[in-house]
Amino acid sequence: MTTSEKSVLIDDLHALEREALAKLATVPDERGLEEWRVEVLGRRGTLAELLRGLATLSPEARPAAGAAGNRVKGALEAAYAERQRGLRAQSRARELEAERIDVTLPGRGVHLGQLHPITQLRREVERVFIRLGFSVVDGPEVEYDRYNFTLLNMPPDHPARDIQDTFYVANVGAPSRAPATAAAAAAGAVSPGDGAAPAGTDPLPPSERGAGGHVPVGVDGGKAKMATPAGGEVLLRTQTSPMQIRVMECQKPPIRVLIPGRVYRNEATDAAHESQFSQVEGLCVDERTTMGDLRGCLTFMIRTLFGSEREVRFRCGYFPFVEPGAEFDMSCHVCGGQGCRTCKGTGWIEIGGCGMVHPIVLENVGLDPSRYSGWAFGFGFERMALIRYGVDDIRLFYGNDLRFLQQLR
Ligand code: DAH
Repeated sequence: MTTSEKSVLIDDLHALEREALAKLATVPDERGLEEWRVEVLGRRGTLAELLRGLATLSPEARPAAGAAGNRVKGALEAAYAERQRGLRAQSRARELEAERIDVTLPGRGVHLGQLHPITQLRREVERVFIRLGFSVVDGPEVEYDRYNFTLLNMPPDHPARDIQDTFYVANVGAPSRAPATAAAAAAGAVSPGDGAAPAGTDPLPPSERGAGGHVPVGVDGGKAKMATPAGGEVLLRTQTSPMQIRVMECQKPPIRVLIPGRVYRNEATDAAHESQFSQVEGLCVDERTTMGDLRGCLTFMIRTLFGSEREVRFRCGYFPFVEPGAEFDMSCHVCGGQGCRTCKGTGWIEIGGCGMVHPIVLENVGLDPSRYSGWAFGFGFERMALIRYGVDDIRLFYGNDLRFLQQLR
């Protein structure tokens, strides 16, 4: 090959370099880049084809042409790598732009639920009495007349029965046909004496405790002596007080129990009344417990719930199952006792009833009143919640309006 042959090859190499670089600049994306690479730098590409021409050159012409070939090859490879970096950066930038997140946008709120205000209050009261050594127990809402009234010193025709308009459960068969109704069975009421568990005098073992640490008491048990005759008519309990009897039938003193639960009264609904509401009952029975203990425990509860400045006062009150009986009030937490709208100008707010367990009630459950004394109290959670939250209509608690409920945390 002649010198001119050599320079033709070198010129071709330069021409290839120019064209390939120009084309490389217009490659739009990585796919186009790969096509360019195959076409120019591939084993059968244009550069390889030219370089094969080296073999036909004379030995003198070869070094210069070879050097030119290497330079062009190096330049094209470098340009390729450079373009590849540029295209990758571009496509990454496009991706980032497309998937852009504005981290400064406010997040979507997670809606947390909360306990119903009545449940919150119930748990607070439970906590107070658990600290005082009380156990929390559950009882049936469908109850015998005997427990709801008779054994609480309200025999048939007792005028105090009339105060509590009672829902009776209809179609209850003869008392020996237990359980009396499906509802009664579901609620745990049994016909005493019929398949009742043997008399238990000790608190239920932990294995028989219900959910939440509550202990179902006296549902199937009861002393044999109490198990007959039958409990009489079946009703929706009008108060949590019947559980006093059920607990005393099953447990020996010392007894310290708190019984929260739903109660029912056949009342017209208005701002202050619902036919279904909840109460809590407290009962303490021991050898030497006094009204001073009752007063101390209630004062502790009121001050825990409403503030340490609250005073508690007892007024004489009549409840057939306590003697003496009292109503207990607390000094108004809104005005501090000066008199305001909340306390109707009196400085006091009525909370509930209480007293020393009536000797007749102790005898009814086989406890000797000369050896044992006891005290009890009861109040309604809804009433206490109205007072506490300054709400003026009891129906709001069961209206399921979240705008109302969420305000009471
Ligand atoms: N059970 C009564 C009621 O519903 C409240 C009550 C009063 C409960 C005095 C008691 C008590 O334990 O000693 O009106």
